[in-house]
Amino acid sequence: MTIIHTVAGLRAHLEDVRGHSIGFVPTMGALHEGHLSLLRAARAENDVVVLSIFVNPAQFDDPSDLAAYPRTIEHDVELARSVGVDVVFAPDVDEVYPDGFATSVSVRGLVAETLEGARRGAGHFDGVATVVTKLLMAVLPRVAYFGAKDAQQVAVVRRLVVDLGIPVRIAVCPTSRDDDGLARSSRNTRLSPEERDRALSIPRALAAVETAVAAGETDAAALRSRATDILGEGGTAPEYVAFVDPLTFVPAPVLERPVLMAIAARVGAIRLIDNTVLTPGGR
Ligand code: PAF
Repeated sequence: MTIIHTVAGLRAHLEDVRGHSIGFVPTMGALHEGHLSLLRAARAENDVVVLSIFVNPAQFDDPSDLAAYPRTIEHDVELARSVGVDVVFAPDVDEVYPDGFATSVSVRGLVAETLEGARRGAGHFDGVATVVTKLLMAVLPRVAYFGAKDAQQVAVVRRLVVDLGIPVRIAVCPTSRDDDGLARSSRNTRLSPEERDRALSIPRALAAVETAVAAGETDAAALRSRATDILGEGGTAPEYVAFVDPLTFVPAPVLERPVLMAIAARVGAIRLIDNTVLTPGGR
């Protein structure tokens, strides 16, 4: 496994394998089982696997959140080695945003401006879109892998790849969950045992709505109220429970086709997100 810190070094290294399929997993490090599932998928489907580790300051709206973000590069490198990563690309901030950097990739419309875009500020998805574009241009992979837990990030990346004509396939891997159903996230380590218990109301709310949809309920307001009750009873404070088109994020008041149900909720000081795709009538 090779560790590379510069774009020039990465390009030179990948020059030799250009005829082969490259699978790419972009991360901000603090790797957990969720990231490893993306890396395993990339390993199974490609000749060469590239992992990037870069805590992207441009996508943090809160400087204290950026400062508190876990940085565990040595452990990450060990985990990367254990799942057969070929190249770890770990640039410094100056390498990604050199002096004079003045360009931003900005996806507009509901897909980037609603839900997470509205809560975290317009800069969040601009930061994600800019860094993902830069990373894709540096790696030029055949496939890039993202987790379904960040459904809105996936939709923003899909949009920019189509709009900018970047020749890459975006692969979305299922949300990785602990045995109790909680979606894996680097934030989970900050939950106390009691908070973790409360957080379980999030997967419970998703499951209850899946059951209601399987029983024929298609009214988003009724489903939202069911989910909000479960979250409240469980001791989490919902920020939103939304039913939207998975690609455009246009709200879906009635479930007539597959709809993304997205939840953001606070458990104490920790903000968690999770989602599921609901298919009315099993269609
Ligand atoms: O999902 C993440 O970890 C980040 O948003 C990403 C895609 C690596 C961009 O910084």
